[in-house]
Formats: sequence, structure tokens, C-alpha cells
Amino acid sequence: MKITLSENQIKQLVAGALEARNNAHVPYSGYAVGASLLTEDGRIYNGCNIENASYGATNCAERTAFFKAVSEGEREFLAIAIAGGLAGQSPEDYAYPCGICRQVMKEFCKETFQIIVVKSNTDYQIFTLEELLPHGFGGDAIR
Ligand code: THU
Repeated sequence: MKITLSENQIKQLVAGALEARNNAHVPYSGYAVGASLLTEDGRIYNGCNIENASYGATNCAERTAFFKAVSEGEREFLAIAIAGGLAGQSPEDYAYPCGICRQVMKEFCKETFQIIVVKSNTDYQIFTLEELLPHGFGGDAIR
């Protein structure tokens, strides 16, 4: 079953992801990512990537958004929009979530969770978590 987001929800998430890129801390890669995460009850948490001189300490935009939301008590999510590209420029391609971020989505989201990859306000594609992380490993396997 694919949940249907409203046009307005999609518009807000797409704009949020593009806007959140402006806060990215990317002195090493120069690749700025923004993410905008929608909860079941309609709240939105934005995030950006935050790099570190010790590269492994870098946090992706998607996980920034999730960790902000989860740390505020949120546990139910509907969708995330993601936009990435060279800082200071509009995205040239769709930015797909890395494997670690897909795994974090798996921890908190159903298979129907929507992932919107964004090039611009009018150019985006929508996938489900099931499509981007088939046969994933989740908590059900160890409970
Ligand atoms: N990055 C994200 O923010 N999200 C992803 O899903 C992939 C990669 C960031 C991490 C790093 O700051 C930069 O993009 C280059 O890898």
C-alpha cells in the first residue's frame, strides 16, 4: 500500500530540503545536503549534513533530521525529502540516501515510508523505503 501525500505536504518537504541545504557544514566535501522529515501528525523537522575534521564523525542530513525528531519524542514518520549538490549551487542530480541513513529509516519507519529525492521545487521523484531498502534488517528479526 502506498500512502498518498497531499500536494501541499510534498511542496513543503521539497522546499524544506532545498532550504536546509543552506545550513550544511561542509568544509571538506563541499557537498551540501538538506532533508525535511514529516511526522504522522504533520510536524516537520529539517536537517543538514554536518561534517567533521575527523571524517567519520560526519552526520548526514537525513540522520540529523531523524535524530532531531526522535530526540523530541517523535516516533511515527510519513516521508522525507532529500536534496544534495555542490554548496552554493542548485542540485544537478537526485541525491539518494546512503546505506546508513536507509538503515536509520528502517528503525523507525514502515515499508510505505516515502522518500522524495529532489532536484528542484518542480523536479523530484518519490520512492518507498521498501523500494530503496528491500529485504532490510529490522528490529522484528531480533525480538
Ligand atoms: N551525505 C548526506 O548528508 N546524506 C547522504 O545520504 C549521503 C551523504 C553527506 C555526507 C557528507 O557530508 C557529504 O554528503 C559527502 O559524502
